[in-house]
Amino acid sequence: MARVLVAYGTSEGQTERIAEVIGDVLRDAGHEAAVLDVNDLGGVVPEGYDAVVLGASIHMGKHDKHVVALARDNLGTLERLPSAFFSVSLAAQGDQAEAEGYVRQFEEETGWHPDQRALFGGALLYTHYGFLKRRMMRRIVAGKPGDLGVDTSRDYVYTEWDAVRAFAEHVAAGLEPGAG
Ligand SMILES: Cc1cc2nc3c(=O)[nH]c(=O)nc-3n(C[C@H](O)[C@H](O)[C@H](O)COP(=O)(O)O)c2cc1C
Repeated sequence: MARVLVAYGTSEGQTERIAEVIGDVLRDAGHEAAVLDVNDLGGVVPEGYDAVVLGASIHMGKHDKHVVALARDNLGTLERLPSAFFSVSLAAQGDQAEAEGYVRQFEEETGWHPDQRALFGGALLYTHYGFLKRRMMRRIVAGKPGDLGVDTSRDYVYTEWDAVRAFAEHVAAGLEPGAG
């Protein structure tokens, strides 16, 4: 059994939901998983974990700055342990090149090259956004590839949960054998 830290940076909650599913899959595989908001870590990857999974969403072309800082400032720990990164964006839904570019930029910025990486589609939560954000997001996605939704009276979730579970199973398989 391995103890795995799954830390996420989220603005509207989608990356947290993905992190929770990853935690569930790791536990089902017999590992111990702590799923934590990066803001609760105080900038430090705590001692006592055998592996680390970090996840961050994209806003305005950039990954969550707290996750960027955590990766950059804990590079030694992340390089010593099995590690994985997942990126959450709308680009992952229809513009793979852009989504991959975000991850390349993240790796350049942090110096961290995780053992495994995944790109997941995020969510368009129009009904949760304020007036200005709703209008801005509609305008942005209307000009983007990927057939993204423009009906602001509803939400759209592009996360492929099977891909999230497959990623987590892959992470789990690379760790010490599960207890059960
Ligand atoms: C204000 C705003 C800006 C965004 N900018 C981008 C962007 O530049 N590129 C992109 O692919 N997705 C962008 N997104 C989509 C988010 O990555 C997506 O909504 C994701 O699900 C957010 O995850 P979170 O809820 O964990 O923060 C943006 C979303 C919002 C609300």
